[in-house]
Amino acid sequence: MPSKVILDVDTGTDDAVALMVAALSPDLELIGATTVNGNTAVHNCTENTLRVFDWIGLPGTPVHQGMTRPLAREQMTQRNPAGRIHGDLLDLPPATTARVQPGHGVDWLIDTYLASDGDITLVPVGPLTNIAMAIQKEPRILAKIPEIVIMGGAHDHGNSTPSAEFNIWLDPEAARIVVNCGRPIRMVTLDATHRALVSLDDCRALRSLGTPAGEAAARFTEKRIEGYDATQPMHRAGAAPVHDALAVCAVIDPSIITTHFIPVDVETDAELSVGRTVCDFRFRSGMPANVHFAMDADEPKFVRMLLEILGRTA
Ligand code: RIB
Ligand code: CA
Repeated sequence: MPSKVILDVDTGTDDAVALMVAALSPDLELIGATTVNGNTAVHNCTENTLRVFDWIGLPGTPVHQGMTRPLAREQMTQRNPAGRIHGDLLDLPPATTARVQPGHGVDWLIDTYLASDGDITLVPVGPLTNIAMAIQKEPRILAKIPEIVIMGGAHDHGNSTPSAEFNIWLDPEAARIVVNCGRPIRMVTLDATHRALVSLDDCRALRSLGTPAGEAAARFTEKRIEGYDATQPMHRAGAAPVHDALAVCAVIDPSIITTHFIPVDVETDAELSVGRTVCDFRFRSGMPANVHFAMDADEPKFVRMLLEILGRTA
């Protein structure tokens, strides 16, 4: 029986791969996607999400647009050139059949969870603005969310700043609300995604699948590799993380990441470390554990899963 998921995305190149994995995996039922301001303005994230569903032949997948800016603070532009890794619009044909649905993404999340049987895993892979808004607007949805699997956070190193990972950094107030919401949370962090890189050889293998998803994943990951090699080199040149897709693969096969169940909170008021996920590995805070925090990932399994799933067609 496939597991039901909802993705909250700021599509972006890695969000696009995550959406294709979620839509094509036989182990998942993608109920829909909500878009949020993040890698680019939310209207671009929406168009990009629609382009992905058109491209893989699933234009009827529900897409609802969400929040245009962070909860409490001014829109912060990233120092590092997100354009080199994402760009504003994906290199896919403009959406023609897929259409954004009426109604705000936050309201669709609320309505969908209240009407559910409590069996839809929530997978946010962008800033957590929509999720925090939904929780604040209608706390009753919490009882209906079985697990939140977040792409976000970092312990050893940030990407937007020395301390903070982008999804948390862009809206730290929202992230703090979500990590303290009381529901089961897994965080698929940079500590994990940076240990599950996709290489140019893997892109050649993806393209040789001969499927729309394989071609798109190769195209987006090659762009990511060029951007990472130029601006944020990994421990291996010619390879890049595909953060959001690893979060979806962790829903399919939890063994792909290694997690520690610890107290985690989010810094929202510091000069140098706003957006840092503060990890209490030694339980010094006296707080209870609230997050399964990923510190490692299985790179060969990740690449195998991408090849298996993106070799499928709708
Ligand atoms: O830090 C990586 C995260 O930020 C990914 O979700 C990427 O899409 C960007 O949103
Ligand atoms: Ca993202």
